[in-house]
This record gives sequence, C-alpha cells and structure tokens, in this order.
Amino acid sequence: MADNKGRFVVFEGLDGSGKTTALEGLIEKIKKEDPDRKIFQTREPSDGEVGRLIRKALTKQIVLEPKTFTLLFAADRYEHIVNEVKPAIERGEDVFCDRYYFSNLAYQGDVASRDMILSFNRPARDLITPDVVFFVDTPPEECMRRIHKGRDQEELFERVDKLKITERFYKEAFESLKDVEHIYILDGTLTPDQIVEKMFDILSDIA
Ligand code: TYD
Repeated sequence: MADNKGRFVVFEGLDGSGKTTALEGLIEKIKKEDPDRKIFQTREPSDGEVGRLIRKALTKQIVLEPKTFTLLFAADRYEHIVNEVKPAIERGEDVFCDRYYFSNLAYQGDVASRDMILSFNRPARDLITPDVVFFVDTPPEECMRRIHKGRDQEELFERVDKLKITERFYKEAFESLKDVEHIYILDGTLTPDQIVEKMFDILSDIA
C-alpha cells in the first residue's frame, strides 16, 4: 500500500457460523504466504472496560434496558476503534476484527431502527471504514447444531428463532449498505479451508 497503512478487515456471521474459525484460518494462511505482514487480531465486544460490562450482560450477570445494551455496543466500538484499531492501522498492521457495527444492526435490529443504530455508530464510522467485510453465511439451524456440539454455556442469543431474526436483519442491513461498504457474502456450508481460500483471494485482489 502506498501510504503504508494497514487494512481493516471485518468478519461477521451468526453465532456458530464459523466466522472465528475462518478468521483464524485466514491469519494462518497469510502468515505462511507472507510472513512479513503484521496482523492484529481483535474482536467486539472488545476486551476493554465497556466490552467487559457487555459480556456481563450477555452472560446474564447483570440486566440492562435493551436500548442501554444497544448503546453500549456502540460505545464499546468507539473505544475499540480509537484505542486499538486506528493505532494498529496507523502502525501499518492489518486489523482483523471479529464483528463490527453490522452485528449491532443485526442483533439489536428488534430494539431500535436501522437509522437509530447507524446514528449510535456514527462516531466510530466517521473514523474508519472497513476495507472488506466478510459475512460467513451459515443457515441458523446449522449454526445451532454447531453451537450445541462445541459449547456448554448458552448465551443470550444462541437460540434458533433469535438467529433467524438476526439473519434477516443482517441481510437487510447489507442490502441497504451495499453502495457504501465492501461486503462479501461467503457460503458458510463450505469447508473451513474453502472459505479461507475464497477470503484469501478476495484480500489478495485489494492487496
Ligand atoms: P461473539 O463473537 O459470539 O463472541 P464469543 O465468541 O465470545 O461468544 O459475540 C458475543 C455476542 O455479542 C454475540 O452473540 C453477538 C453479540 N453482539 C451484539 O449483539 N451486538 C453487537 O454489536 C456485537 C458486536 C455483538
């Protein structure tokens, strides 16, 4: 890249979709092919103070008003972009981020309108736009099957009816944002290697 800045790459998908596996597989592949490239792996909710509060609500240790919860995701995102993502991009590192504001639109789509959630996320969106958004598109029933195979603790959103609504909000959000974001939808029923391969090719094209 001419300006030596890193790329901001976002990974989205339902719980159990395989997005985190794909993210980690992609990092491994890039490290093999291009050992000098620095990648900063991160996630939202973040590991900062606001992110920790969100995780308490997700595991039902505390109860919050749904709109408070929605706002907290956006607040956490702003903290994360300012304190972690932007500095890494400026250092020339690629940032691979597990979830971004699209999760807010999808998971809290039944709490506030799309316009309201977009406005909550204005502070972060004004600072940075992802170079690529990958959506790992896995049917909710398959996600549920995977969740029950690999995990003990059911989080708030890990139920199939909720996943179906979330999927609908994701797709509506992507449709409405298709002219302003670089969104790539990947078939989540492919093998992890195939998904990683496709992501790698897409990223290579925007090297
Ligand atoms: P997840 O990536 O599934 O984390 P983990 O691997 O630790 O389970 O994210 C945790 C949950 O947070 C997930 O169910 C989606 C939810 N979430 C929202 O509801 N809104 C948001 O804006 C974000 C970033 C996440």
